[in-house]
Amino acid sequence: MSATTLEVRELTKHFKKLHAVDDVSFTLEPGRITALVGESGSGKSTVARLLVRLYAPTAGSITLGDRDVARDRRRRALVRYRSQVQMIFQDPYGSLNPAKTIRHHIARPLEIHGIVPRAEVEERVHELLRTVGLVPPAEIAAKYPHQLSGGQRQRVAIARTLAVEPVVLLADEPTSMLDVSIRIGILNLMLRLKEERQIAFLYVTHDLASARYVADDILVMYAGQIVEQGPVDRVLAEPLHPYTRLLLSAVPDAGMRRQARIPVAPGQNAASLDPKPGCRFRERCPLAVAVCAEITPELVEARSGQAARCHVTAPGVSS
Ligand SMILES: Nc1ncnc2c1ncn2[C@@H]1O[C@H](COP(=O)(O)OP(=O)(O)OP(=O)(O)O)[C@@H](O)[C@H]1O
Ligand code: SF4
Ligand SMILES: [Mg+2]
Repeated sequence: MSATTLEVRELTKHFKKLHAVDDVSFTLEPGRITALVGESGSGKSTVARLLVRLYAPTAGSITLGDRDVARDRRRRALVRYRSQVQMIFQDPYGSLNPAKTIRHHIARPLEIHGIVPRAEVEERVHELLRTVGLVPPAEIAAKYPHQLSGGQRQRVAIARTLAVEPVVLLADEPTSMLDVSIRIGILNLMLRLKEERQIAFLYVTHDLASARYVADDILVMYAGQIVEQGPVDRVLAEPLHPYTRLLLSAVPDAGMRRQARIPVAPGQNAASLDPKPGCRFRERCPLAVAVCAEITPELVEARSGQAARCHVTAPGVSS
């Protein structure tokens, strides 16, 4: 495993009886974008928050390189991990201080983490602004957040995360508050960063079209569990899990012009509340058979690299 691979194993987070994240495993590799999709409440943001250690997991491990991050409670380890794994939020405005210039926002992490000598901070701020496409940098650096557009603010937020030279970036719906015309620019920036900096991305989204456009791999979540995972092209062209099929049929036009949000149907939240054995999707599933109410399906690799949690479409040894 590469020193910068983030490996998540059997990650679980319960909020009392709510199994918000249950037995989730995946790997984020340098230079790859992994999309995490699923309807509202499926647990996507909870996964991201666990990965940046805003939440402590109920169970499971998070390993970066060879260190188990969820267990290592030393302050130094935490500080180092937090600079290596950065989060980009939905609302860039909320994460920027309106009273401070753009320069301040990007210079601060450079200074706090001692990334470059003091004399070189200015130069690095400009370099980072150029990297995210904000030019001329000297002009942008002198501005305040409210003087920029939503797309420009999101680019500032990205530049700030890049300042500490992260190896993993978690982007939780980074474009959902932006105009459609601006979204594509942010997605293209993510593509460029993964190529040029070999960053490992987790891209949380409701939007299957943008997942197809930007991601290499996809994770589909339902009621706290990953129900399907694999290469994005394969999964979206030939989905195994009935839930993935439902998502695709609900979003027939996967064009980039409008954002096709994944619709929410009742039942999911109930399915992750104090769950009994059995498939959490069974109440909504057109293919359900008797065993679906008895035994929780495992994630089974039914095709090369493509796995699903389904007794019918991805039967395991016990199914
Ligand atoms: N701090 C918390 N305390 C209690 N319950 C929580 C907490 N955070 C999240 N939840 C619950 O966990 C479930 C998963 O929430 P999460 O925010 O991860 O979903 P999501 O997939 O990101 O949804 P959305 O698409 O709406 O952002 C929801 O039922 C939510 O209400
Ligand atoms: S395990 Fe059964 S209920 Fe669950 S998705 Fe497969 S067929 Fe449907
Ligand atoms: Mg969320």
